[in-house]
Amino acid sequence: MDIRFQAGGAENWKTDIALVPVVQGEKILETCPELDAAAPFLAIAPGMRDVSGRKNEIQIVYGHPDLPFSRVMFIGLGKDEPTPGRLREAFAKGVRKAKDLRLASVDVPVFCLKRFGLEDRLLEEAVYACMLGNYSFTALRKVREADPKPLEYVTIGFLDEYVPDSLRQAARRGESAAEAVMMARDLANTPANLLHPDDFADKASLVAAGVPRLSCTVRDERWLEAEGFSCHLAVGRGASRPPRLVVLEYAAKGDEEADPVVFVGKGITFDSGGISIKPAAKMHTMKCDMTGAASVFASMLHLAQEEVPGRFVGLLALAENMPDGGAVHPGDVVESLGGDSVEIVNTDAEGRLVLCDALAYAQKAWKPRCIVDVATLTGACAVALGDGLAGLFSSDDGLAQLVQSACACAGEDCWRLPLWAEYKAKLKSTCADICHTASSREGGAITAALFLGHFVKKDVRWAHLDIAGVDWRDADSPLCPAGATGFAARTLLELARGGVE
Ligand code: BES
Ligand code: ZN
Ligand code: ZN
Repeated sequence: MDIRFQAGGAENWKTDIALVPVVQGEKILETCPELDAAAPFLAIAPGMRDVSGRKNEIQIVYGHPDLPFSRVMFIGLGKDEPTPGRLREAFAKGVRKAKDLRLASVDVPVFCLKRFGLEDRLLEEAVYACMLGNYSFTALRKVREADPKPLEYVTIGFLDEYVPDSLRQAARRGESAAEAVMMARDLANTPANLLHPDDFADKASLVAAGVPRLSCTVRDERWLEAEGFSCHLAVGRGASRPPRLVVLEYAAKGDEEADPVVFVGKGITFDSGGISIKPAAKMHTMKCDMTGAASVFASMLHLAQEEVPGRFVGLLALAENMPDGGAVHPGDVVESLGGDSVEIVNTDAEGRLVLCDALAYAQKAWKPRCIVDVATLTGACAVALGDGLAGLFSSDDGLAQLVQSACACAGEDCWRLPLWAEYKAKLKSTCADICHTASSREGGAITAALFLGHFVKKDVRWAHLDIAGVDWRDADSPLCPAGATGFAARTLLELARGGVE
C-alpha cells in the first residue's frame, strides 16, 4: 500500500475517506477546529449527532459527493486515555471498515492527531496501523470477486503548504516497521511444504542482495558439520531437506569495526516434534515455528534499508524437525559447538538445540555488544503468560530494560521472567555434561532459558524472548488477521533504532 503526502489544504486532497479517532463525549469540531475547516460539511451534517466516541463505535458522516473528499469516519476510542496503542487499534479498525466498504484509499488528517500528544510519534503509529489493518495473507488463494480488496493507498493530509521533514520521516518509519512485520508474517504463514530451510535461506539471500551494505551468507549442512554444529544438525537429521544457518551482516558507514549487536532467530520450518511426536491437534500451527528467524530476517532487512547507525549480525538457525529413520533418538548425546556434550531426551525440544549452537557461534565469530535471541521455544511460556505476552529473560538488567522499551514501543508486549539459577540443577544429565530438558515440566520456560544461558559466557549481555504464546492468533484482530503475527520483527527494529548501549 502506497503512502502519499497531501499538502496544501483539504481542497487538494484525493481520498475516499478521512479517519478520525474520537474520545467518548468529545466535541470533535471544537477540540479539532482544523477538521471543521477541512470538512465544513460536518458542521451541518445530521449524522454528527450520532458520533459519540464510544469504544468500537464507527460512524461515517457524508458530504456532497462532488467535494474533493466527502466522507469522514469517526472511530470511537471510549473513555480510556488515548495511548499510541489505542490509537493504533482505532486506525486499524478504520482501515478494515474502509476495506469492507470497498474503498480504495483512506486519509490520516495529521492535525487530528495533535490533541493526543506528539504528532510525529502518533503519525508513525497511524501509518503502521493502516498498513497492518490492510494486511492479509493472500498469496495462496485465488482472487474472488466477493472478497474485499486491499486498499491501494493511504494519504496523509496536511493543511499547510509543505510537509514538515519530521512528519515525513515519522510516516516512513511507520511504513518500514509495518513492512518488516508483514514480511515476517508472510514467511511464517507460508506452509512448510513451500518453505523448507533451504527455501528460506535462498529467499533470504535473494532479498538481501537488493539491500546495500547487507551481506547474506548461507551455510549448508557440510559447513555446519565441519564447524561442529552437532546440536543443530541433530534436529534436521529426520527431515528430507537439510538444515541451514543464514548469517546476515550489516554495518552503517564508519561502524564497520564496531562490536556487533547479534540477533538470533529460531527457524524451525516445521516442528512435528520428531520421534517425540506432537499430538495432531494444532500441529499445523508449527509451520510458524520459524517466526523468530523470520523476525530477525525482517528486522535486519529494514534496519539496513533505514541505514540505522551501528553494526548488526542476524543469525537464522534453520532446520525441519521430522521423524524419519535417520532422526535423532530420545537419549542420543551430541557434542555442542560450545564444547559440552548434550543429552537429547525429548526431540520436541529442538529449538534450544539449534539455538545453543548459534549462540556459541555468535561468541566465537564476533565479540557481541549483546545478543538477543527470539524463539517460539516453550508451550510452558504460553501457559504462564497467555497469548498476549512474550516471556523475556535476560542476564543483564540494562539490556532487559532496552528490550522492554522496544517491545512497548512496538506494541508487542513482554513480561520479564527469572533466570532462576536454582533450577539449573534440573538440567543434570546421567550421561552427558548437560541435559537439554528439565527433569520436570514445571517452570519449563525458565529451564529452557537456563539451558540457552548455559551457552552464553558470563560477561556477554544476552536477552531471550520466548514468543511461543504470541506467534499465532486463532481469531482476527484489528492489527492482525488469524494466523501468524510476525511478533518481534518490530521490537528488534525498534531496539536497533533506539541504539543498543
Ligand atoms: N515449538 C515448540 C513450542 C511451541 C509450543 C511453540 C506451542 C508455539 C506453540 C517447541 O519446540 C516445543 O515443542 N517445546 C516443548 C518442550 C518440551 C518438550 C520440554 C514444549 O513446549 O512442550
Ligand atoms: Zn518442538
Ligand atoms: Zn519448536
